[in-house]
Amino acid sequence: MHSAFRDRNIVLGVTGSIAAYKACELASRLVEYGANVTAVLTRSASQMVGPASLAAITGRPVITGLFDESQNPEIEHISVATSAHLFLIAPATANILAKAARGAADDWLSTALLATRAPILFAPAMNTNMYTHPATQVNLDILRARGCRFVGPESGRLACRTIGPGRLADTQAILEAVIPLASDRHDFAGIDVVLTSGPTHEPIDPVRFIGNRSSGKMGRALAIELLARGAKVSAVVGPHSEPMPSGVRVVPVQTASEMAETAVNLSQEADVFIGCAAVADYRAESINPTKRKRDGNGLVLKLVENPDVIGMVGAVKREGQVVVGFAAETDRLLANARKKLEKKHLDLIVANEVGVPDSGFGTDSLRAAILDGKRNAPEFRLLPKEELAEELADRVSGMLTEARAAGHRAIQREVNN
Ligand SMILES: Cc1cc2nc3c(=O)[nH]c(=O)nc-3n(C[C@H](O)[C@H](O)[C@H](O)COP(=O)(O)O)c2cc1C
Repeated sequence: MHSAFRDRNIVLGVTGSIAAYKACELASRLVEYGANVTAVLTRSASQMVGPASLAAITGRPVITGLFDESQNPEIEHISVATSAHLFLIAPATANILAKAARGAADDWLSTALLATRAPILFAPAMNTNMYTHPATQVNLDILRARGCRFVGPESGRLACRTIGPGRLADTQAILEAVIPLASDRHDFAGIDVVLTSGPTHEPIDPVRFIGNRSSGKMGRALAIELLARGAKVSAVVGPHSEPMPSGVRVVPVQTASEMAETAVNLSQEADVFIGCAAVADYRAESINPTKRKRDGNGLVLKLVENPDVIGMVGAVKREGQVVVGFAAETDRLLANARKKLEKKHLDLIVANEVGVPDSGFGTDSLRAAILDGKRNAPEFRLLPKEELAEELADRVSGMLTEARAAGHRAIQREVNN
């Protein structure tokens, strides 16, 4: 659950396109963001995708017809239409575009589109001739002029074996278009965030590595939270990490050195940097070119220190940039985190306990406290990673607002002088 989608009602209208099956993935991503998704299938769409899949994914009854309502008042079209925060029609057929443009109301979806005052986002999908037909183009113009939004279609190979415009936009592009319309928090709009996530693997030979237990769940929770609040998110992600949500630019890396190089490069343009990865402190001094064999003498590895990723970013921090670190500790949590915050010039650090049940690598929650440069006593609480992500985003957002206000004051002083 992420704050920007909490209690946001999205009606996902699925119409009778060959691409209707893709609505399942879309619904699943929206649910993952924390939205309440009500899926609606037109009669034609019901021939392409089963309501049972969408009901299982959304956890809600799927609307398949106007007269379902007598059985289920929960899905009465006026109440669903008026409580919706967004109507997403994906895929949208030429037919629903024509009906919406004319204001026809001959089934549940077209009726609800007239009854709602929520933003409407269409993701059209159809054969190229149908898409480029003047009738469809006029309908698109009418809907655009009325404030409806569109994502896609893309050009490419279509199911009807032709090549041209008409292919449903990919899930990532649709989600990117949904986020600013559905989310009610936009405090990260225009903000460029770079984060690191997951473990690093330090090879000792072609088949073995030194690693750690980080899962990348915290980084993923942060990415979803920030994305939903409008940020442009780039993630430098270590191996075997939880997948990042669509909409995040992912740069996969293996080792701490690769992570450091990529993170420092990307952070130069970023407004916010969050070092959430569990970066290995040490690597093997030399990597054996072939698989090491047993020889009865054991193995002594010489380890050397890795670059300090967050320290490198902190050292070149720009005015107004916010740099956040994580301190995963097994002991002396507060003292160790404070030391790291000061030494590495961080604005915030999340002190979190690892190696105990329910908190740390691979778990869904963390016992953590967020510290800033002020020496007040922080409160350690066991929080789901999503909630910690929300709290951290709130603190970063507050710092960005303060930095902007300070910037304006400085400009004003110069103007006055
Ligand atoms: C296999 C199949 C695939 C179809 N794919 C599309 C499509 O991608 N886009 C489209 O506009 N119509 C497509 N149609 C035609 C629509 O299903 C038809 O126009 C229908 O009346 C749309 O109804 P609806 O908009 O209420 O879902 C397809 C029809 C069939 C049988």
